Parts: sequence; C-alpha cells; structure tokens
Amino acid sequence: MSVLVTGGAGFIGSHTCVELLNAGEDIVILDNFSNSKPDVLDKIRTITGKDFKFYEVDLLDKDNVEKVFKENDIDTVIHFAGFKAVGESVEKPLMYYHNNITGTLILCEVMKAYGCKRIVFSSSATVYGSPKTVPIKEDFPLSTTNPYGTTKLMLERILSDLCVPDKDFCVTLLRYFNPIGAHESGLIGENPNGIPNNLMPYICQVAIRKLDCLNVFGNDYPTHDGTGVRDYIHVVDLAKGHLKALFNARKTTGVSVFNLGTGNGYSVLDIVKAFESANNIKIPYVIAPRRAGDIAECYADPTKAREVLGWKAEFDIERMCKDSWNYISKNN
Ligand code: WQD
Repeated sequence: MSVLVTGGAGFIGSHTCVELLNAGEDIVILDNFSNSKPDVLDKIRTITGKDFKFYEVDLLDKDNVEKVFKENDIDTVIHFAGFKAVGESVEKPLMYYHNNITGTLILCEVMKAYGCKRIVFSSSATVYGSPKTVPIKEDFPLSTTNPYGTTKLMLERILSDLCVPDKDFCVTLLRYFNPIGAHESGLIGENPNGIPNNLMPYICQVAIRKLDCLNVFGNDYPTHDGTGVRDYIHVVDLAKGHLKALFNARKTTGVSVFNLGTGNGYSVLDIVKAFESANNIKIPYVIAPRRAGDIAECYADPTKAREVLGWKAEFDIERMCKDSWNYISKNN
C-alpha cells in the first residue's frame, strides 16, 4: 500500500516526503512542477537514501491521474497540489478556482473509482479570516477575504461532504499557519520564482543582497510593536505533523480538523531581529503602507493537535531563521 503525495516536489510537500520516507512509508509523488523544480526529487532521495515513484501529472489531466492509481496501490492521499499566492488569486480568480477546485474534484473522482478512502488535505489558517480573538481554535468562525483562501474553505466543505454518504471515508483537514525554515541539510527549502510575496523568502533575498531592503507592510497595527503578528512554524515540524495525521487517519473515519502552529505569535520586526541575530546579517528595512487584505494578528491554539495527534512543534524561531539562511545561502 502506498501514500500518494500530490505536490510532493513543493516546499511543504518535499519536506513531508522526507519524513514519510524516513518513517518507512512507501510513497508515490505526483507533481506538475508549476511551483517546484525537478531537482528536488533527487534531493529527497539523497536526504533519505530511499527511492519512490514519480509522475509528472497535472490534476486536471484525469487520464493520467487514473494511471497513477491504476499502476499503484494507493490507500491514502496527502494533497498539497494547488496554487497558493494570495495576491495572484485576487488577480486571477478563475485560474485559482479551476486549478484548485476542479483539480481536487478530479482527484476525488479517481480516488472513489479506485476505492481510496483517506485524504489528508493541505488547508490554511487563512480560512479563519480576521479572527476576533487569538489564539485561534479549530471551532472559530470561518471566513475568507481572497480567492485562494476561498478555495481552501470550499475544498474543506467539499471533502467533508464526501464523508456523509460513505461512512468509511476519512478526511483530515490540516490548517497551516506560517511555514518557514528548511531541512537542516540545506538541500530543500523555499525559493519561490520571482519577487517573493511572503516575509521569510523576502528577508532571505535581502540577506543574499538580491533585494536591497525589506518593506515592512505597516507599523500601525494594534500589536506590541505595530507590525503584523503571525504564528511561524518550522516546515519540518509541519511535515512531522502530517506523519502524525497519517497515522491518526488510519485509525479513524469522518472529518478531523487540526491547527498546525506553534501557538506563539511573532511580529515582522521580531522576525527581522531574530534573523539578524541568528545569522549575524543586517536586514535593512523601511516602513511601507499596509498590504491590502492583511490582518493584524494570527496565531494558533495547537492544543487539539497535541492531545489527539500527539504532535507539538519543537523548533524555535532561531532555528527557523538559521535553517532558512542555510538553505538560501546554498541555493541562489
Ligand atoms: C507575514 C507578515 C505581512 C512580506 C500568507 C497566506 C497564507 C499562507 C502563508 C498559504 C504579514 C508581513 C510580508 C513583506 C511584510 N500561505 N510582510 N513584508 O500573509 O500571513 O500568510 O502566507 O497557505 O495563506 O495568506 O504571510 O509571509 O505574506 O506575511 O511586512 O515583504 O509579514 O504584512 O504581517 P501571510 P506573509
């Protein structure tokens, strides 16, 4: 029996594949390289000393998605594949709805045809919208402010609905907070194409002097230093959370929802200072206007994942900053 990892060449997907292989799982990776690079596959093999089958397939290509299930005995899917840039989703909503929703519907149709009844879904804290209070629990109200977040919320509801007629179906919704960092080897990490949207990849580009200076989007939020507060979590901690979720999914049916965060909130300036201190590198910044759609504060209450999955984030912000720098300094 194998675990199919869609988007397994991506940032979180590749780190999850490393943890799955290290735990002795048999995996199959599907990816179309729309936001990843082929060389990640051999890096996963180098890190783990393990091999796996790979299919370069787009989820919109049903015949080739079927081929994966026809040629492999897939009993669980860990589903990362999807577009994930908030700003781009506002500019290109149809592309996001088609790719993320239709792609997942095709995946579910093929899963049903081949009797695969377990899926672990890559959701996001963005489904909480702008929370009235923090820390955030899984039963908080859900709302979204951009098409990317709406695809995540819609897919949570679609996948949950599949459990109504089929009592054996098992859906695990993992709501990520802000994943940063990289594997300690420095072989895999986050290196988006073009100018990064997210904070840590942008700081890394400033650190390698590819970009001159960080724009801090607003310092007039109601937070301890006026800049945006988020729950940054090491990508390896996040990957290990998927392993725990997989083990749990094998013992349950129906819908389970978990926040995967540290429970700690750090501001933009906290992260800048932590990165400078961890790596002894100056990060020049200017205060810029707020970014449309940003919220002031967002961090998790990770109690449920600890109590049900037996999972807790272990790495601190210094390690996240060191591993981010280690990766970008070797891959630029
Ligand atoms: C973090 C903080 C910015 C860049 C997004 C998605 C979310 C998830 C993670 C997919 C904010 C500030 C940022 C910069 C800045 N992705 N910032 N200058 O917006 O919390 O979450 O990525 O699941 O769904 O919404 O992450 O890293 O973009 O921003 O000041 O150049 O850093 O204002 O306060 P965000 P981010």
